[in-house]
Amino acid sequence: MSTTTRRFRRIRSWQELLHVASIPLLAIFTLDPRTLHPSYRMTLRRRLALVFRLWRNTRRIETGISYKAHVAMAAKLLATPPEVDGVVVECGSWNGGTTANLSLICRVAGRQLIVYDSFEGLPAAEPGDRHARPEARGLYCGDLDTVRSNVSRYGDISRCEFRQGWFADTLPHHDRRIVLMYLDVDFQSSLHDCVVNLWPHLTRKGYTFVDEYVLLDYCGLFWSESFWERHFAARPPGLMGSGTGVGVGQYYLGPFDWSVDPTSVAYTRKDFSGLWGYERS
Ligand SMILES: C[S@@+](CC[C@H](N)C(=O)[O-])C[C@H]1O[C@@H](n2cnc3c(N)ncnc32)[C@H](O)[C@@H]1O
Repeated sequence: MSTTTRRFRRIRSWQELLHVASIPLLAIFTLDPRTLHPSYRMTLRRRLALVFRLWRNTRRIETGISYKAHVAMAAKLLATPPEVDGVVVECGSWNGGTTANLSLICRVAGRQLIVYDSFEGLPAAEPGDRHARPEARGLYCGDLDTVRSNVSRYGDISRCEFRQGWFADTLPHHDRRIVLMYLDVDFQSSLHDCVVNLWPHLTRKGYTFVDEYVLLDYCGLFWSESFWERHFAARPPGLMGSGTGVGVGQYYLGPFDWSVDPTSVAYTRKDFSGLWGYERS
């Protein structure tokens, strides 16, 4: 074994220890009962059990997402009053690691989860897409049977509805109100399709979470005045956690390289503003 591999493995095992040690901290601080809606009755025991299960599932289903990102989404979903009508949407499920965890969170919140994916992996690269490579076509392919089977085993399949196809074909037909959506779609063209088609369905204080938060130019969509003006005649909402992710217990300073393990997520809300707007005359 080379020195680099040994060093990498040592870092990984320390990171693993940190993940496990974070379970009670996330249950206490990230799922802060003062911020959660009381109707979900999230006692400390239930919060610990949920966070533990979210962590354990990410050890059972291969996923690139940390359970800490799932806890962050749980915190916002469980802060949303149950009387606000809307579903949760996931775009990009791969093997269903996040799908299983979102389905468990949806069970607690009493909501449905709609999952959009090609179930054939990444699409062909479109010209002008800085984050798409032709050779990546078909990567992260989790077929629908695999995803269903993983979610049946480790999540709550009764909460899920699967919509198969390319986002450009399926998302324009979305017709349900959305309280929270999670976009983990890698390519700029795919993120474009998700935001353009789904943002109008978000509730007034609905959340959008994104996985590609370490890439500042990717986060740039949420700060782009021209994009938001053109598609929604609105100001950019900004993105909490741009570049490093929101605070869920990690020691990542950025910028990204493959030896570090950012374990977070970024999010915005329909009513946020990321507009600078000041000019000295
Ligand atoms: C990085 S993977 C998602 C990982 C997953 N969220 C997890 O927790 O492990 C990206 C997913 O997005 C899907 N995808 C990306 N662009 C798409 C598009 N334009 N239409 C349909 N599916 C797409 C791919 O099929 C793949 O499953």
